[in-house]
Amino acid sequence: MKHKILIIEDETRLLRILKMVLTDNGYQVKTAQDGQQGIGVWTQWNPEVVVTDLKMRPVDGMEVLKFGRLNFPDIPLIILTAFGSIETAVIAMKIGAFDFLSKPVDHKQLLEIIEQALVANKKEPESLEDLIGSSVEMEQIKKNILLFASTDSSVFINGESGTGKEIVARSIHKASERKNGPFVKVNCAAIPRELIESELFGHKKGSFTGAIQDRKGAFIQADKGVLFLDEIGDLPIELQPKLLHAVEEKTITPIGASSPTPVSIKILSATNLNLEVMISESKFRADLFYRLSTICLNMPALRDKPTDISELALFFTKKFCLEFKKPVLKIADKAIQTLENYSWPGNIRELKNVIERAALTCNKETITHDNLPEIINKETIHPLPQNTKDHGFDMATQEQNLLQAALEQCGWNQSNAAKKLGITRSALRYRLQKHGIKK
Ligand SMILES: Nc1ncnc2c1ncn2[C@@H]1O[C@H](COP(=O)(O)OP(=O)(O)OP(=O)(O)O)[C@@H](O)[C@H]1O
Ligand SMILES: [Mg+2]
Repeated sequence: MKHKILIIEDETRLLRILKMVLTDNGYQVKTAQDGQQGIGVWTQWNPEVVVTDLKMRPVDGMEVLKFGRLNFPDIPLIILTAFGSIETAVIAMKIGAFDFLSKPVDHKQLLEIIEQALVANKKEPESLEDLIGSSVEMEQIKKNILLFASTDSSVFINGESGTGKEIVARSIHKASERKNGPFVKVNCAAIPRELIESELFGHKKGSFTGAIQDRKGAFIQADKGVLFLDEIGDLPIELQPKLLHAVEEKTITPIGASSPTPVSIKILSATNLNLEVMISESKFRADLFYRLSTICLNMPALRDKPTDISELALFFTKKFCLEFKKPVLKIADKAIQTLENYSWPGNIRELKNVIERAALTCNKETITHDNLPEIINKETIHPLPQNTKDHGFDMATQEQNLLQAALEQCGWNQSNAAKKLGITRSALRYRLQKHGIKK
């Protein structure tokens, strides 16, 4: 099936060319010549990606973006900017645009970004069998998943970035009686502050500027299923009382609604921040934390369960070789040793990315250290300190250093830095924002 792309652009000639380029590359395209018309097409046609110009009349690209965040938050939006409007584009990125492209539009780059946007939006189907690792720690986690899935109590999942918090949350859903109900994820760190309330609780048409239609919030969408509040530590403090009320009472009141709606949900939440420290600094409410963490699950860092590394590496090698339609590669013993000696600040996600690249670049039968990134081969000679249990601080610092180093090595080109780190551009931007890293 052809992917549906909506282009909103007021320059007729450019619009025609872009439509032609995308159609020639196998996309189904609809166009609009200003924001108002664009919003109309968006509502009726359900595109998978939206590309919009910024400066248009009477309704500009910024309004289109705000409309999208409120009404179709999962749909990636790409901004086209003319020379001189980069600052507005940066604001657009903060509100949640997927990416921006400067004019004149480089067609190849546009096609690449659209491809990335479509991939970023694809959800991986995963189940309990996909949870790899037979270390004592992982076996205990699997047992706990089954136990915690058997109740409706809230579960709080804590652990460094990339340790598997989300895959565990999905596994709890799949192992529970709610498995045929929805699994709804809200990333509290990725949604702009002013939109979170509507994202969680929904709104009524006309309840504020931009609310052009009723919207069901995540609580109602997750009815009879599981609501996963990801990056809960980033939830603004002023919204925490309303969330506490919803969690306690299992009823919610959408913005602008006059009466509450009951919901039947199991709530899972996760963060890589240290909420206890945040509570002591009055950045997170203790009452909400205790409500959410009836049961706590701590995900160990990969460096603390090194026996899982080879198992995961072999699993990912097989997965990617099948995906790349290659015969399944072996991994040299020495390369396994190198992987086991590395400190994995990005945990399982980092290992997965490293193996993906190795599987792609390896043109022999066996993956060797030549196929591993320099940083991993180097660190084997100068390993990082292993005692990083107090990850609240250490993890953040390591992540910041890694981001900074990658950006500096790539002359602050975000695309290249993201490639180097093996993460998507949107993931990179989100991390830069989180740590306040600017050039
Ligand atoms: N035990 C595991 N077996 C197989 N794959 C795993 C395992 N744990 C994590 N992964 C994979 O590693 C990647 C990162 O996991 P996940 O997104 O669950 O981490 P996270 O803790 O939520 O990270 P973040 O804090 O950055 O959001 C995912 O692609 C996931 O499928
Ligand atoms: Mg996560």
